[in-house]
Amino acid sequence: MSNSYADAHEKSINDPEGFWGPIAEDCHWYKPWDKVLDDSNLPFYRWFAGGETNTCFNAVDLHVENGLGDQDAIIYDSPVTDTIKKYTYKDLKEEVSLFAGVLASKGVTKGDRVIIYMPMIPEAVFAMLACARIGAVHSVVFGGFAANELATRINDAKPKVIVTASCGIEVKKVIQYKPLLDEAIELSDSKPDACIIFQRPQAKAEMTDGRDFDWKDAMTQAAPHDCVPVAATDPLYILYTSGTTGQPKGVVRDNGGHMVALKWSMSAIYGVNQGDVYWAASDIGWVVGHSYIVYGPLLKGCTTILFEGKPVGTPDASVFWRIISQHKVKTLFTAPTAFRAIKREDPQAQLMSGFDLSPFKYLFLAGERLDPDTLTWAENSLKVPVIDHWWQTETGWAIAANCVGIEQFEVKPGSPTKAAPGWNLAVLGEDGHPVGPGEIGAIVAKLPLPPGTLPTLWQNDERYKESYLSEFPGYYETADAGFIDEDGYVFVMARTDDIINVAGHRLSTGAMEEVIAEHPDVAECAVMGVGDSLKGQIPLGMMVVNAGVDRPEEEIVKEVVQLVRNKIGPVAAFKTATVVKRLPKTRSGKILRGTMRSIADQKSYKVPATIDDYTILDEIEDSLGKIGYGKKA
Ligand code: COA
Ligand code: AMP
Repeated sequence: MSNSYADAHEKSINDPEGFWGPIAEDCHWYKPWDKVLDDSNLPFYRWFAGGETNTCFNAVDLHVENGLGDQDAIIYDSPVTDTIKKYTYKDLKEEVSLFAGVLASKGVTKGDRVIIYMPMIPEAVFAMLACARIGAVHSVVFGGFAANELATRINDAKPKVIVTASCGIEVKKVIQYKPLLDEAIELSDSKPDACIIFQRPQAKAEMTDGRDFDWKDAMTQAAPHDCVPVAATDPLYILYTSGTTGQPKGVVRDNGGHMVALKWSMSAIYGVNQGDVYWAASDIGWVVGHSYIVYGPLLKGCTTILFEGKPVGTPDASVFWRIISQHKVKTLFTAPTAFRAIKREDPQAQLMSGFDLSPFKYLFLAGERLDPDTLTWAENSLKVPVIDHWWQTETGWAIAANCVGIEQFEVKPGSPTKAAPGWNLAVLGEDGHPVGPGEIGAIVAKLPLPPGTLPTLWQNDERYKESYLSEFPGYYETADAGFIDEDGYVFVMARTDDIINVAGHRLSTGAMEEVIAEHPDVAECAVMGVGDSLKGQIPLGMMVVNAGVDRPEEEIVKEVVQLVRNKIGPVAAFKTATVVKRLPKTRSGKILRGTMRSIADQKSYKVPATIDDYTILDEIEDSLGKIGYGKKA
């Protein structure tokens, strides 16, 4: 690999096949590819077409064959259950091949979908890898989503089998998963043939005869299953992510490109090698969990930490330092919100003292904008490089990063540094033409996207084209706005759509509005993301109630909050709403969410020229003031 970022980036853009082809040799292939990049069916690109491989083989068996069988593959560290359990690569191979046998015994074969709705326990990782082993397509659903969201995903993915656990543990709360699963299956048109339930001691799930099977019983009866060769272009997983409506987007990830890009990224971006301990403090329900709790570190032969806990409260704000020192973590990856939570509890970082953090080399942050306060605090306390990088569920790995394994650049606060190799970024103005350095516009990536990125949306090529490729032909639209400065540093400022970022979780305000509008007393509503010192943003609802409704406002707000929790889930963190007389709109009827958000966040704003009646903005200020937002708070 070149040791100059400029050379690597230039080669990746001008000769993508020459760049990624040799990198792919680092993986195991049953059959080599015919073409590194197949562009015969534009605008769809396929990486390593004609090649055959198996992601699970590369992430597990290959290391055992290469003599790493006794190295730890997974360290499960669960302060919420007071457990630390280690699995070597040999152990992992045993668990995964047995669970692959369980899936096969339930009729799951190549191409079938399996939904995994599980907390952060090793069995969740076994289930993901077992799917990969037999060529089944997994779709992991985050535990903080409600039954309704799970049902939407069941309906779209049509899984043959669903794997779940009896419960998750949120600090001290035991969250029963099984009733949510039962409700979701009830709500969905598509029904799985079987559900496999991992019973945890904290809660016992009621089983449905003939449909539900106990994980442990099934494992004792199963025969281990070997890896099945799949096409590089076959799907490995579907991960649903928020779109602008209540119907989430099923981001597809292929096997070949994903494996190549992730294995490469471990050293090129994160500076880790085989044998190093890598920790992504996220959840397997998010893309960070897929890429950097499971696939990336295991493909590279690292030891990955599976953490079932929170940055604070399990038991306190020292847990990150305890884990880094106890397991000798070299690189930690989490969201800025986790560090804001720690900083709030322990502003002087006193809890760090007494822990040997000497093996720790890098902190990587992503998922939301890294605010300069958090960056400075982390740098000063940890005394290691703190690296912001920018990516999305769709991209699977970083679009822009300080690639410490290639060439480490000086950090510019507020910037995730430069476009990663493979990413040909541009900033376009409203007319679709590139703007100059430092000028804000839509950040786009010229096609083709590098390997590991989404080839399409699950069974929805049209939505893929319409969502990402139609606005700026020839480019992938990231839906993030920002600028690139004269040194090539990227600055990501805001989303251009209705997506908000709550504690590093991506949520759709449109989806919340759809739920609120179902309330019988609500005539119309708007949800916007307002600033929050811990979570970055939180959703805030503004509602107009139907004429003639004279119930107390608090009652309606309470019901609406509960409705969003029931329909979307606690992860939406929708707790604040207010009733307003009217919503400000343009003459064409578009609700001025941006203006209301500026009022709530006490930011200056231009009174829109298109608004008819300015008194409406005073009314909004009054309503926001009543719930503690804006100047009148
Ligand atoms: N299963 C069930 N419920 C869940 C859940 C899960 N897997 N994950 C979260 N929830 C619930 C929480 O219990 C909480 O419920 P509540 O309203 O009853 O309190 C709600 O969803 C919101 O959760 P969360 O966003 O995690 O907020 P929090 O206040 O519990 O914790 C932080 C705040 C900052 C500590 C937490 O968000 C965090 O650790 N973030 C780390 C960053 C991260 O994981 N980012 C992901 C992308 S990298
Ligand atoms: P998700 O798909 O959940 O990973 O969310 C992706 C979105 O999070 C991006 O489109 C950005 O809006 C935001 N995001 C992720 N990383 C960063 C970052 N480093 N800086 C600014 N925004 C980020």
